[in-house]
Amino acid sequence: MFITIEGLDGSGGTTQVERLRAAWAQRAPEREIVCTREPSPGPVGRLLRQALADVTIGEGVLPYLFAADRRDHLDRVVLPALARGAVVISDRYALSSLAYQSLALGMDKVAALNADFPAPDLTIVLDLPPAECLARIEARGGTRERFETLARLSEIGAAYDAAARVATAWGWRIARIDAAGTPDEVAVRVAGAVWPG
Ligand code: TYD
Repeated sequence: MFITIEGLDGSGGTTQVERLRAAWAQRAPEREIVCTREPSPGPVGRLLRQALADVTIGEGVLPYLFAADRRDHLDRVVLPALARGAVVISDRYALSSLAYQSLALGMDKVAALNADFPAPDLTIVLDLPPAECLARIEARGGTRERFETLARLSEIGAAYDAAARVATAWGWRIARIDAAGTPDEVAVRVAGAVWPG
């Protein structure tokens, strides 16, 4: 079972990965649950994080780094865990590239770069208006990343709609969840998508 969580920066993905881990642990205490993330903690992910912080690296370089990191992350973490029978929950995956990187490279090229990666069993997109995402980012403080301005988040929000259409055409199962409200309220909605009925 491979579940990916997606959404704009500030939409609460990292929190919901932890909530979903707890929900799985309660329902299936014997099951191994692997929570992971992209950019990955591995060597290509580390390079990618440096690139994201380096303004001399153009937007046109990033799509390739994200795709390389995804391949490495699949090979090191995701596929071995799935082969062991674990539940894998990833904070971001290829839908992030379709949304964020399509702005620099165009959807067709980003889709081509990502078309061969395995489809998750379920992709959850946390929907939150860009202004609310920015308010949450500001509330948590720290440094802002290059995608974290209102204009940028609005563009990426629209790109997520296009990305969801592309991934749906690939046969991906996508659930869009209203991410407004408390973490507990959103976690209930996420659980409703993972365990319908
Ligand atoms: P993020 O999860 O926000 O990392 P952190 O929690 O350490 O800040 O990811 C970093 C940024 O990378 C985020 O703005 C989304 C972006 N991103 C892409 O542009 N494309 C991708 O394929 C992925 C996985 C992330």
